[in-house]
Amino acid sequence: MSATNYDLKKILEHWDNEAKNFQWHRSHQTTLEGDFTGDVKIKWFKEAQTNITLNAVDRHAKTTPQKTAIIFEANHPDTPAQEISYLELSTAVNRMASVYKNLGIKKGDVICFYMGMTPELVIGVLAAARIGAIHSVVFGGFSAQSLAGRIEDSGAVCLVTNDGAYRGEKIINLKDICDEALKNCPTIQNVIVHTHTKNAHQMLSGRDHYLHELLKNSDPQFPFEIMNAEDPLFILYTSGSTGKPKGLLHTTAGYMVHAAYSFREVFDFKENDIFWCTADLGWITGHTYTTYGPLLNGGTTLIFEGIPTFPNGERFWQVIEKHKVTHFYTAPTAIRSLEALGDELPQKYKMGSLKVLGSVGEPINEEAWEWFHLNVGKGNCPIVDTWWQTETGGIMISTLANKTECVPSFATYPLQGITPILVDNTGDELKESVNEGNLCIKYPWPSMARSIWGDHERFIQTYFTTYKGCYFTGDGAKRDQLNRYRITGRVDDVINVSGHRFGTAEIEDAIDEHHDVVESAVIGYPHPIKGQGIYAFVICHHKRSDTEVLEKEIRDMVTKVIGPIAKPDLIQFVDALPKTRSGKIMRRILRKIGENELGSLGDTSTLLDPDVVNRIIKGKKN
Ligand code: PRX
Repeated sequence: MSATNYDLKKILEHWDNEAKNFQWHRSHQTTLEGDFTGDVKIKWFKEAQTNITLNAVDRHAKTTPQKTAIIFEANHPDTPAQEISYLELSTAVNRMASVYKNLGIKKGDVICFYMGMTPELVIGVLAAARIGAIHSVVFGGFSAQSLAGRIEDSGAVCLVTNDGAYRGEKIINLKDICDEALKNCPTIQNVIVHTHTKNAHQMLSGRDHYLHELLKNSDPQFPFEIMNAEDPLFILYTSGSTGKPKGLLHTTAGYMVHAAYSFREVFDFKENDIFWCTADLGWITGHTYTTYGPLLNGGTTLIFEGIPTFPNGERFWQVIEKHKVTHFYTAPTAIRSLEALGDELPQKYKMGSLKVLGSVGEPINEEAWEWFHLNVGKGNCPIVDTWWQTETGGIMISTLANKTECVPSFATYPLQGITPILVDNTGDELKESVNEGNLCIKYPWPSMARSIWGDHERFIQTYFTTYKGCYFTGDGAKRDQLNRYRITGRVDDVINVSGHRFGTAEIEDAIDEHHDVVESAVIGYPHPIKGQGIYAFVICHHKRSDTEVLEKEIRDMVTKVIGPIAKPDLIQFVDALPKTRSGKIMRRILRKIGENELGSLGDTSTLLDPDVVNRIIKGKKN
């Protein structure tokens, strides 16, 4: 049978069965409505009503009130860990929900979060869901300008932040960054400040409120809002090939069903297990597998405020030993950076509690896979290589722990109910094993994004027009003779740096804001730790002799516009870029130069100035 001979009836039966695992205020009649043609209005479990906090918090607070829902491990190892039971979580979420209501926030309003990884972030997000407000978490490493852009686009009415966040030795003054951002955000009426680092900051009377003050007048039992299946749950911004980052919109019931199902299935999670996903809530992984997946399953989730290298490179292993973590889910970048510190570090710790390891966010190379397997899992733990995206909401293709075979660098098989196909560049489906195809999804799945916030047309254009009738992921993949998938990376102008996603155009726009820059072109190049590094080719108005200063200014500009995570690793000043006669930059050539594949530059005769390639190669930076 072909790998992609999917039976939609069976798929719907599967999702119907999964939906039975939840408490509903009203059940659904229609499993799925809509497809990937026309206006792509997808609805799952259309008539159903519930609230995700009923399923993630309330029901466990009733049945297992004393069970630990959240373990909080702070930035500094000397800070005592905090354990929050389901009953305590329920009370905290209820109180926070009432705080929002007291500020006049209502169903459908957007609440933006710009915080460090503290329990208050998880509680704040769940409380937003409880009152039917839409959460929009912005990673605390983005700049004021990025934050402002996301607030402006979402129309958020409330911003929740910390005074500051600990990140290793540093304190990031989050409130100051918020103040800067809010100069241009008239929609924000209230700012809620959770005091954490106690760094100096300003409070604007009437707009800014301390959380501890607001909590004095809060309700430990606050009823949840009854949500329709397709009511928005959250917006999460992510980068694409073109334009500004887009706010992917996820809705209530379908997201809930797939988050819970994929968590249980992929990780083989059992009742007393302790799950640690290292992702920050600013990313989709933090939403689905640090927060909703474990809590919907009544599990214990560990949240970690710090970084892997503070106070030293043993921190992760120490946390695993200390809390007897059973499931450890992280990104290949983290694995590679810890591998570089030597095999001795993980060996110093007792990590026998570990049962399952997971990888996410970028392709994992075989060497990192083997190191993870041997040095962290001691050869005993399956590694689930989970492929998915902000758009997919949950894991789509992955090994299932203890059920299917792990193959280094292969995500292997789709989850039940998920329908990947590979197509060639003309959109024809490739039926057999293939070395390279464009990865698409044939049928809708419950946790898929429903739209781009405020721009449904862009949603249709971005995902459903390249290959008609299916969702295009932007990734390339190989499928072997056993129908196992290996994700090879993006085939569009998106780069994946340390598991963080950027559009090359977005970084170019930031570089071009420097007054000396005429034009730039950015590509991803292979980087031993980050997976991809950022390589910028820059043309300036005048030759400046202080190139180091200029490089720093350009990096500072990117930090200001996007954030430090998007700073170029390599900057090469050039007098021209390889352009076609019609003025289009031939990135393919720049990518080959970045990859050091100078023998396969392809046809350069169509370039306006073919010699430009030789000049760029001469000044090459890697
Ligand atoms: O290129 C794929 C890569 O990360 C992209 C999605 O990025 P983002 O929306 O930020 O979500 C990351 C966390 C789910 C994908 O298009 N990617 C994600 N997981 C894998 C991966 N590439 C290879 N293997 C994976 N397991």
